[in-house]
Amino acid sequence: MQAPCTSLADYAEQARKILAPDIWQYLDSGTAGNRTRYQNEYAFDNIHLTPRPLADVRGGHTRIDLFGQTLTHPFMIAPIAYQGLFHPMGEVGVAMAALAQQTPYIMSSLASQPLSDITATGAHCWFQLYWQSSREASLRLLRKAEQVGATAIVFTVDAPIKQSSLTLPHDISAVNLEPTPPLTKIDATQSAVFDQWMTLAPRWEDLAWLRSQTQLPLLVKGLQHIEDAQRAIDTGCDGLIISNHGGRVIDGTPSSLEVLQRFRPQLSPSIPLLFDSGIRSGSDAFKAIALGASAVLIGRPIIWGLVQGPLGLAHVLRLLRDELEMTMALMGCASIASISGCAIRL
Ligand code: FNR
Repeated sequence: MQAPCTSLADYAEQARKILAPDIWQYLDSGTAGNRTRYQNEYAFDNIHLTPRPLADVRGGHTRIDLFGQTLTHPFMIAPIAYQGLFHPMGEVGVAMAALAQQTPYIMSSLASQPLSDITATGAHCWFQLYWQSSREASLRLLRKAEQVGATAIVFTVDAPIKQSSLTLPHDISAVNLEPTPPLTKIDATQSAVFDQWMTLAPRWEDLAWLRSQTQLPLLVKGLQHIEDAQRAIDTGCDGLIISNHGGRVIDGTPSSLEVLQRFRPQLSPSIPLLFDSGIRSGSDAFKAIALGASAVLIGRPIIWGLVQGPLGLAHVLRLLRDELEMTMALMGCASIASISGCAIRL
């Protein structure tokens, strides 16, 4: 009998054994080179915590308020494509665990199950939008998400060219998307990147247009240059998700934690900065919050749990919550607000 999993590392190890090698590879890998993917995790090792025993943390809690929504804790489920690849219950299984652990679930544009089935679980859902081939098609997808009750929109801008090497099984597809129109024909003098793929990518004017199309909070995920971050805020976006897509898009960028440290002092404190890429424990979450994150998204570890069904994922989320609470208690922090600026050292 398999030993029970008692840590995220145990869940990762089991997922590696259970999943088919090509599916594990799709989940685990970053872009060729994997430097950014690993840098994301190593960055946390360079931040040190100085415990503050004897503090009175009775009655402590992890609640936060974000865009008028009260969350029990600062963890969120990052958007991840095709969750049916990892367990037959797919996105609905993730949403059940999310509900059990009161964790907001960001549904991917590339979900393998209908958005309405996911929100029917009663989970608190946001929607991650990938730009579709036109404004009209993007708007239809946005409206679909609004109609099923998504309470915020995450616009992912860092992956306009999809380079996945995985061939999807016949029963897994992006069921919420319309068929993509054929790419424009190019001749031998033209570039597939500039003259085909990038003609379909969103531009700044599309972000401004998107802003004008929804009343929901709009967050941009994947900006890494401070001028871009400021421009998105000036365009009316409500928040940013600092992310390098788990090191899956361009290799050689700084760790996401480094970008957070650059951004936070330069942007208005009233702008929520959510964070992902590399969080593997509750103490990692603590460090990100101490460095200015308002909430943190969990990527690959969600799937490590999902591989063992909704119960496995609910346990992963509970472990993260328990680790965060434990870290807060040992660091003398009775609330998430008290974490920022507390004793950490580079
Ligand atoms: C992703 N990510 C992602 N992001 C997004 O905006 N839309 C998507 O559909 C996906 N799909 C996706 C698939 C897989 C298999 C992975 C691993 C990641 C990126 C994801 O939201 C998040 O940014 C990273 O996973 C965070 O890094 P960690 O926690 O995995 O290190």
